[in-house]
Amino acid sequence: MLTKKKLTIPQFKELKAQGQKFRMVTAYDYTFASMVEKTPIEMILVGDSLGMVVLGYDSTVPVTMEDIIHHTKPVVRGAKNTFVVADMPFGSYNVSVSEAIRNANRLIKEGGADAVKLEGGSNVLEIVSEMVKGGIPVVGHIGLTPQTAAQLGGFKVQGKDAEIARKLVEDAMQLEQAGAFAIVLECVVSPIAQLITEKVAIPTIGIGAGPYCDAQVLVMQDLLGMYDKFTPKFVKKYAQLNGQIVDALNEYAKEVSDGSFPAPEHSFGLTKEQQLGRLY
Ligand code: KIV
Repeated sequence: MLTKKKLTIPQFKELKAQGQKFRMVTAYDYTFASMVEKTPIEMILVGDSLGMVVLGYDSTVPVTMEDIIHHTKPVVRGAKNTFVVADMPFGSYNVSVSEAIRNANRLIKEGGADAVKLEGGSNVLEIVSEMVKGGIPVVGHIGLTPQTAAQLGGFKVQGKDAEIARKLVEDAMQLEQAGAFAIVLECVVSPIAQLITEKVAIPTIGIGAGPYCDAQVLVMQDLLGMYDKFTPKFVKKYAQLNGQIVDALNEYAKEVSDGSFPAPEHSFGLTKEQQLGRLY
C-alpha cells in the first residue's frame, strides 16, 4: 500500500526547482477523494466545475460558497494526506477585498481546505496579496477563466494573439509577486505556457496548456470518461466509465425484473434453530 504524506507549499515549489512534475485532479466527494488518496497524485481541486459535472448547471457561474464548502468537507475527510485546494466561486471575491477574505477563510476553516484558488490576473492582485498576508495560501488561475468566459469571447484558447500573450505573462509574474504559490494555466497555447513556466519560480498547473507546465490538472469526470455532455480537446480519457456504469445499471434493472437479483447470497435467512424458536 502507498504511504502518502501531504506535501507542503515549500515542497511544491521545491518540486519545480528540481524539475519534478506533480499532479492535480478534481474531486467533489468522499468516495472519489479516498480513491485519489490511494494514488501518488499530490493535489486535489474541489473545483467550481462541480457546477457542471455534479450539479448539472450549464456553467460554473451559479455555484455558491455553500456548494463548495459542502463538497470540500467530504473530500478533506477522504484524502487526509493529499493537499486540497478549494475554488472560490463566482461572486465570492468580486464585491470587496474584505468579503473575499471572509469567504476564503470559510473555505479553510469550515471546508478544511489547505488553500483557495481564484480566477484572474491584474484585476485580483490586491485580493491575492491581502489573502496571503492574512495567512491564506492562494493558487491563481489565468488563461481561459470559465467564470468570466463571456468577457473573453467564449471558451477560447488563450495566448495566440501577441497582446493577450504578453498580458498572460505579466499576469503570471504579478500573481507570483502578490504571493500566489501556484498558478493554473487553462487553455493557453503551449509556447506561452512554457514561457510563463520559465518566468515564474512558482509552479504552473496546466489544463489544456501543453506539456511544459510544472504540473497538470484534469477534471475527474473527464479523465474517467464519465461526463458525456462535452469533451474538450485537451482531455485524455483514461477510462470509459460512463458506458460501463450505464451497462451495470441496465444489468441491475434486468436482474430485478427477471428475479435473478437478489440471489440467496444477497439475502438473509434464518438458521434451523431460529426457525424452530419463532413464528411457527
Ligand atoms: O473548476 C475546475 O475544475 C477548475 C479546473 C478546470 C482547473 O478550475
